[in-house]
Amino acid sequence: MEIVFPALVNPNLAQQTWEFLMLQQFIKGKKLLEIGSRHGESLLRFALTMGEGSTVVSLDNNVEEGLGHLYFNALFLRRHTVELINGDSHDPGIVEKIKSYGHFDFVFVDGDHSEEGVTKDYENYFPLCNVMAFHDILLDTVERFWSKHKRDHPMMEIVHPSCHGAMGIGVLFNDNYLHTWGNQ
Ligand SMILES: C[S@@+](CC[C@H](N)C(=O)[O-])C[C@H]1O[C@@H](n2cnc3c(N)ncnc32)[C@H](O)[C@@H]1O
Repeated sequence: MEIVFPALVNPNLAQQTWEFLMLQQFIKGKKLLEIGSRHGESLLRFALTMGEGSTVVSLDNNVEEGLGHLYFNALFLRRHTVELINGDSHDPGIVEKIKSYGHFDFVFVDGDHSEEGVTKDYENYFPLCNVMAFHDILLDTVERFWSKHKRDHPMMEIVHPSCHGAMGIGVLFNDNYLHTWGNQ
């Protein structure tokens, strides 16, 4: 019987898998925020990268679809604390709620993909974290944000060589955090 992993036959999935695997090398610590989790695919990847007993905060303005049970079970087995927040990341009340969790090691931005939306998420949440990654920097709206802000801080671009004009991940590192990178 031949078993073919879907990512090997679907070029878009292969691109995404490769980009996520690269990004996972830069995820450290025990507190994660994801803005825009939908069914939890990327959330699961990042959460399983983090140490046992981490705090995983998932923010989405449409939790009706919900995270799959499998994801939840996987996170539970890892003894993570999982917080699901239903709300708009731009809402000042939600920003305050997120601040109440304290400093995040890693934030993944994959919610509102408009230029204005990504910019607001950057302004509200970058000061709260060590590392912030933006999904879909090849999308024209996100690309406009990214080209304006990628030189604000030390940065890295993760783009699969055979990309088809979609996806791509931009990573910004908090300046103070980079000084301690080698010590962790
Ligand atoms: C591209 S999907 C996320 C996919 C997910 N990261 C994954 O890899 O499986 C975008 C999600 O962001 C949510 N979203 C869009 N705008 C948002 C906002 N302003 N605040 C919070 N969530 C938002 C949508 O409801 C949707 O579930």
